[in-house]
Amino acid sequence: MRGDVLLSNVIATQEIHKEFGGVVPELASRSHDKNFIPVINKALNEAGVKKTDIDIVAFTRGPGLMGSLLVGCSFAKGYALALDIPLIEVNHIQGHILSVFIRRENEIVEFPNFPFLSLLVSGGHTQIVVVKDYLKMEIIGRTLDDAAGEAFDKCAKMIGIEYPGGPIIDKLSKTGDENKFSFTKPRIKDLDFSFSGLKTNFLYFVQKKMKEDSNFIEENKNHLAASLQKTIIDILSIKLKKAIQQTGITEIAIGGGVAANSGLRTKLSEIAKEENWKLFLPKKEFTTDNAAMIAVVAYHKYLEGKFTTQNITPKARFVIDKNED
Ligand code: KG4
Ligand code: ZN
Repeated sequence: MRGDVLLSNVIATQEIHKEFGGVVPELASRSHDKNFIPVINKALNEAGVKKTDIDIVAFTRGPGLMGSLLVGCSFAKGYALALDIPLIEVNHIQGHILSVFIRRENEIVEFPNFPFLSLLVSGGHTQIVVVKDYLKMEIIGRTLDDAAGEAFDKCAKMIGIEYPGGPIIDKLSKTGDENKFSFTKPRIKDLDFSFSGLKTNFLYFVQKKMKEDSNFIEENKNHLAASLQKTIIDILSIKLKKAIQQTGITEIAIGGGVAANSGLRTKLSEIAKEENWKLFLPKKEFTTDNAAMIAVVAYHKYLEGKFTTQNITPKARFVIDKNED
């Protein structure tokens, strides 16, 4: 990024996870380690920037898998040290939340006004957050068990879809009947979420149907996908509506991998129209994990002079509204 303008955004896809049906922590960190130099070189190349032109190195401190965070943190420290430039640590979830502020040169993007609500839906987190300023956030709802992305991935696995299942469920849903099957919606108080009941319900349902007819999954994959996706979207939108009622905030953003889901994007756009909310959807390329979202947070930390030192260590658990070290 130059200032708040994105110059390039290179992502190394970790195909390795598909092979093993999920993220294997040790393989993830090794794959990160191998990717750093080629990814950085490609990003600099696309941006038309030389290594010696870099002013700041930003990296993800957490939350996440310790192994991957460690290699990232160590690499960033080494890179900053070698170039003799400052380091900025970034919370991954703040990155997802601020992904609505990413813009490229000469691109006009409308940004939300503070305070706005963010529905953060990723593979590890599901939260409703009051975003008071770029770096001031308060979580007002969270999942008590699985995240929305996990619900997609785990249920997908039950019907033979490889990891990550979310995008495939999204695609299959387009040809399926979302009302063909109905699954449990949790009754959780306040603004919190739960997805483990849905997971169990989905599993038992599929097992029962397979006993009756061993072709059931094959013949109904798209209907199962669409019905599952509808249930997850309903769970999310019910709580988001409640949060809007409670806070009176009507500017809404979404972020995280599940924010790429076309059903969720359409459904929220429809509700926003009906209810007169202003909805901000990040571009799909900025919803799943990316470097641009980390750079946006780092830019705002830079403006506030929030640099870090070489003594920094990663944090596997790292909550956005607690300022602990
Ligand atoms: O934010 P993210 O890239 O990584 C984490 O920080 O967890 O989110 C990954 C999650 C996975 O669970 C993946 O299945 C889900 O986002 N995901 C989707 C879609 N694209 C990615 N879920 C539903 N529909 C999609 N189109
Ligand atoms: Zn993420």
